Amino acid sequence: MARVLVCCGVGGTGKTTTSAALGVAQARAGHRVVVLTIDPARRLADALGLDRLDNEPRPVALPEAATGSLSAMMLDRKGTWDAVIRSRASADTAQRLLANPYYRALSTRLSGSHEFMAVEKLHDLVHSGAFDVVVLDTPPTQHVVDFFRAPQRVRGLLDRSLLASLLDPARVRGAAARGAFAVIRRLAGRGVMDDLRSFFELFAELSAGFRERSAAIEALLSSPETAYLLVAHADAPERNDLLGFLDELRQRGMTFAGFLVNRVQLQPAGDWPDPAALLAASSDPAWPAMVQALLALPEQANERARRHQQRIRALVDQAGGAPAWLVPEVAEGARSLDALWALSEHLPPTEAAIR
Ligand SMILES: Nc1ncnc2c1ncn2[C@@H]1O[C@H](COP(=O)(O)OP(=O)(O)OP(=O)(O)O)[C@@H](O)[C@H]1O
Ligand SMILES: [Mg+2]
Repeated sequence: MARVLVCCGVGGTGKTTTSAALGVAQARAGHRVVVLTIDPARRLADALGLDRLDNEPRPVALPEAATGSLSAMMLDRKGTWDAVIRSRASADTAQRLLANPYYRALSTRLSGSHEFMAVEKLHDLVHSGAFDVVVLDTPPTQHVVDFFRAPQRVRGLLDRSLLASLLDPARVRGAAARGAFAVIRRLAGRGVMDDLRSFFELFAELSAGFRERSAAIEALLSSPETAYLLVAHADAPERNDLLGFLDELRQRGMTFAGFLVNRVQLQPAGDWPDPAALLAASSDPAWPAMVQALLALPEQANERARRHQQRIRALVDQAGGAPAWLVPEVAEGARSLDALWALSEHLPPTEAAIR
């Protein structure tokens, strides 16, 4: 079974970028790797050769120095839902479900459905036998723990048919609630209620399959073969969120592999220009002031580097000495294969390094 590396983190910290670079690092070390990205920025998708959402891993052309292979894909939430329905319902039910307006809204808009489908696809990739390592990027969430809770929430919604109450007034408890549901039914209109009823009737056929699969996915997510990395921004390594995340992992018996601290200002090279030589470079009266400003730049960078080191130490301490990989900030964003290659040199190259 493939080893799974999940990159979690709050929105915008660099989960998608570091997932791709982590994939490159593992491929360089000889593994057959697939990176499952979620909504990559356009230029990053281009760098990975992902020009369409087709839910299939596509090989990435890496330099020859890489002894393994890298494939990448972007999660197509709707496509994954459809594939799951097709694989588990009879042809007739699948066809009717796919055409159901309520199903269409559910598969594209329901909050948490991104996470739900990401773990569904993860399960397929792990069991395909085509890869040694699967790197999973995660959707942007406000809180890191949302990633763990969302799939269960969506399954619960489907399973318990909460909305069945809407369809059957006799099952609604309390006169006030019955009144409220009556209003919803009136506002929603007959057609919508029929779609909803038909959705739940069709879905009932799939419930047992979903329950079974959900148990397999839960087992995969908490297997020792699955390790979680927390991507933190060097300027603000969200410490409060970190505690919630670690707590959740511990409660679920999951493996915390460490931090990927992104956009770190590494110490600038020690060879600073000689101020006297710089001053002699021009006789322009404005030049000395310019030199002063230029010379302040390395100092500012140094100051930021020191701040980052302090924060990273505090973060690691708080997590009881967990490992941290420092991913430098690269100029012009990390949007080319060259940039990902450069970042990969700072990431754990082997699965063993992550254990
Ligand atoms: N090490 C880096 N150096 C420079 N730019 C970076 C680096 N890492 C990420 N970026 C830039 O930061 C932005 C956010 O990165 P990314 O999309 O990977 O974050 P994310 O956590 O996946 O965001 P979201 O939560 O929205 O999915 C992008 O523009 C990316 O190019
Ligand atoms: Mg992202």
